[in-house]
Amino acid sequence: MKKSIGVFDSGMGGVTLLAELLRALPREHFIYLGDSLNAPYGEKTPEEVTALTEKAVEALLEKGVKMVVIACNTATSAAARRVREKYDIPIIGMEPAIKPALLSNKGGQIAVMATEMTLKLDKFNFLIERFKGKGKILKIPAPKLVKLVEEGITEGPLVQDYLKTLFMAYDLEKIESVVLGCTHFLYCEPSIQSFFNHGVKIFDGHQGTVNHVIDLLEAYDLLEARGPGGYEIINSKSEAMKKQSRILLDHYLAMKR
Ligand code: DGL
Repeated sequence: MKKSIGVFDSGMGGVTLLAELLRALPREHFIYLGDSLNAPYGEKTPEEVTALTEKAVEALLEKGVKMVVIACNTATSAAARRVREKYDIPIIGMEPAIKPALLSNKGGQIAVMATEMTLKLDKFNFLIERFKGKGKILKIPAPKLVKLVEEGITEGPLVQDYLKTLFMAYDLEKIESVVLGCTHFLYCEPSIQSFFNHGVKIFDGHQGTVNHVIDLLEAYDLLEARGPGGYEIINSKSEAMKKQSRILLDHYLAMKR
């Protein structure tokens, strides 16, 4: 029987990864679960996020998925280890793309935009410890950007004003690159680029995650040979959010064309 790949996020953010997966794996079928009812995860406790992640993985397992991709940096930081121990299928997570940002760094500062939880938990702090001395990292928690994206707002004055507030205390000219460490923020890439009008390099973990998915599908002999591929969207909050996910999927695909 043909099996799907489960993709999960707290809401709309992981749709950006779903878009990249659809492009890279056109024969695969995906089931996307957005937990907008409980978004934002970044303002919950790690225990709450772990419980919600377990619930999401179980819902996807009930649908018979062969693999789960946690398209959420926050849920990965809080719960990836736990769900990998608990469930018997390959589970892939995400982390902010610090390494490529540091490797290309020419001496400027690197702003990592993510949820407060991602920036606080050990996973992230071990990661920056590993690359200590290779560049100055600025931690920029941006919870309101998650909320704006959940409302379908990815550009315009509300986003620009919020970016101004976030970076008020920093010298923008010194910032060489921005790491988008939250899947929700990828929709805002053009806004972030135009906010830093001196031009910054923007990094995200999507390509690395897609490559990891392909490697594991091959390693576990789970690649779908025939297709046809496609996707189904489930949202814990409402039908309207399901529709919104499809609109954002098209928006993201058009943006990246
Ligand atoms: N999209 C999520 C991430 O990548 C989390 C956003 C949230 O729910 O706070 O971290």
